[in-house]
Amino acid sequence: MASEDHIERTFLMIKPDGVKRGLVGQIISRLEEKGLELRALKLKNLDIETARKHYAEHSDKPFYDHLVYYVTSGPIIVMAVEGFNAVRAVRQLVGATNPIEAMPGSLRGDFCLEQVRNLVHAADSLEAASRELSLHFNRDDFVSEVRVGEIYD
Ligand code: CMP
Repeated sequence: MASEDHIERTFLMIKPDGVKRGLVGQIISRLEEKGLELRALKLKNLDIETARKHYAEHSDKPFYDHLVYYVTSGPIIVMAVEGFNAVRAVRQLVGATNPIEAMPGSLRGDFCLEQVRNLVHAADSLEAASRELSLHFNRDDFVSEVRVGEIYD
């Protein structure tokens, strides 16, 4: 392990288009194949107030209302994802915000075409991850560690 490698916990949302199109399994598989681990997961409908808070930094953008309307239009999945350098690792798997610029092999590069309906959202920094995790989860939603095999001991 290089000294710059740190275990981080980040936030990922599968947006309504991802849930509606039945891509949840494939998206989670990409995370798991990379070696990242789930620490919390919920399927839920986002209320308008939480959506506005989640996207508060974009409140002055022309697409803000459309984004809030869209992200509250159907069920979403919210996740806490943990692993080495998880913030950057998940952002790489997700790909560029504009799916046309996202590399093939990334989730947005492979599965979507539009900027608002761009399949997933991932926190862009540890600070954003912390803020978004506390907006979408309660403390007791998290599992601390997954110890596969202990049940057989
Ligand atoms: P996300 O990663 O959820 O973070 C902010 C979202 O705003 C982004 O994905 C896009 O869905 C949306 N977004 C960013 N830029 C634009 C844009 N130029 N036009 C429309 N939507 C955008």
